[in-house]
Amino acid sequence: MYIIYGITFLVFYGLGMQIFSGNWSKSEKLPLLPRTNTSVVIGKYEKGYVYHNFRKFAHMIVAGTTGYGKTNFIKCLISQLDGEIVLIDLKGGFDYGKVTALDIEQSRIELEKIVAEMRQRRQGHIYVIVDEAGELEERSYLTKKENADYLACQACISEIARLGRGFHVHLIYATQYPTSNIINGQIKQNAETRICFRLPTEIASRVALDESGAEELPAGDAGMGMAIFKKDYKIPMMTYEFVERDGWDVKVRNPQRKGSADSFSIK
Ligand SMILES: Nc1ncnc2c1ncn2[C@@H]1O[C@H](COP(=O)(O)OP(=O)(O)OP(=O)(O)O)[C@@H](O)[C@H]1O
Ligand SMILES: [Mg+2]
Repeated sequence: MYIIYGITFLVFYGLGMQIFSGNWSKSEKLPLLPRTNTSVVIGKYEKGYVYHNFRKFAHMIVAGTTGYGKTNFIKCLISQLDGEIVLIDLKGGFDYGKVTALDIEQSRIELEKIVAEMRQRRQGHIYVIVDEAGELEERSYLTKKENADYLACQACISEIARLGRGFHVHLIYATQYPTSNIINGQIKQNAETRICFRLPTEIASRVALDESGAEELPAGDAGMGMAIFKKDYKIPMMTYEFVERDGWDVKVRNPQRKGSADSFSIK
């Protein structure tokens, strides 16, 4: 019995290593999608492209230590998404062409607007993207009153996670710090899709993925862009590196992006 376990382990281990050491073509074009307006290519694995359809799995958590590819991944997503984009980046907004909210007051205004209008919505999709969810955490040095905007933003995010699916409002929630505060129960339960780049500890991996594994992704340059993709199944994959080019301008709120091949080139 143990021999069979041993052989199975070796086969899977070998397969895993092969995926991670595989050569990624440098001149590849992103394929034209068998598109619905909610599907995107998010990476590549040993058998081909990894697709994600936001209509089937409404929300997504993106976790990973600094410098392993969260923002790059979000840029790849944005360039393919067909709908309204609300991009909240409290880290200065330098990573993106344009953002919807750069500070906590504006984030609250935008998020409350979405929650208030959510139940009336019938058409189109809205993607609410938070790049660095840790920035929405309340500050220990502030009073409760001074923290009001942070708490209001968190309440809106939880509401979007809970109800968004039915109203075509999607949450893409990225963080360096997967803790149970930042990825609270409401978000965790409702965001089944996880994209997890390398994390420093098994504990962090368990919060982000509900299991260990992200701490075993390669460290340093070799691990950049590598992620574990998990929803009802789990696969290791390589994300695409986004190359900014003339005409790539992330228009928020009404990005009007059709197709994906012309928005990408893969390094
Ligand atoms: N798929 C990829 N292939 C190759 N390199 C990549 C890939 N994704 C990201 N990188 C490289 O890794 C670097 C860091 O990526 P990125 O800015 O997306 O990290 P991050 O996770 O957002 O970090 P932070 O948490 O500090 O914001 C970039 O300079 C980029 O060139
Ligand atoms: Mg980033």
